[in-house]
Amino acid sequence: MNETLNSIFTRYSCRKFTDKLPCDKDLQTIAKAAVAAPSGMDRQLWQVILLKNQELMSEMETEGLDLMKSMPDKSLFERIQSRGGKLFYNASCMMIVAIKSATPPGAELFDCGILAENVCLAATSLGIQSCMCGFTAFCFAGNKRDEFKKTLGFAEGFEIGILLGYADMQGKPHELDLAKISLIK
Ligand SMILES: Cc1cc2nc3c(=O)[nH]c(=O)nc-3n(C[C@H](O)[C@H](O)[C@H](O)COP(=O)(O)O)c2cc1C
Repeated sequence: MNETLNSIFTRYSCRKFTDKLPCDKDLQTIAKAAVAAPSGMDRQLWQVILLKNQELMSEMETEGLDLMKSMPDKSLFERIQSRGGKLFYNASCMMIVAIKSATPPGAELFDCGILAENVCLAATSLGIQSCMCGFTAFCFAGNKRDEFKKTLGFAEGFEIGILLGYADMQGKPHELDLAKISLIK
């Protein structure tokens, strides 16, 4: 199997990280892989922020969890609790992707998803584990939204977080459902 396919087939979502921080060189390479992603009409509406500040990550995590806990539907909060009560799974760093709305609205989400997968595959190829964290949006949905955005230096946009670091677990890729594939001859 070639290296690209190997990264595709060995990537998994890591939900328990050690506190070891990836080196800046690797983080820069991963960030470059992010902005190497294709985007519709080459619009590149994204902004990529590498965050290593544990204090800020912990503040964001608390904000997101508090918001989840306050919601009438507790299912998401309970899901997180059943996984150890952490949104960021102790990751030593993360990438925040902010992306402005495209025309037609929603098209930017494709771009964001492609960028996120580039990040996870580049990380895997460097021996760094990752987890896309859609729940990061909760950190930006409460009272501290403007404060966090100002500190991180972005204005508007959809946010996804991608957790990065070294695994403190034995992860494995999900089972492939080959029945989802059909071939019409
Ligand atoms: C858009 C998106 C958002 C996700 N958000 C979260 C999240 O907030 N927390 C989490 O633990 N996993 C999150 N995941 C990871 C998925 O749960 C995971 O990809 C899926 O269970 C398949 O497992 P695998 O990544 O190990 O193949 C997200 C994945 C995607 C694509």
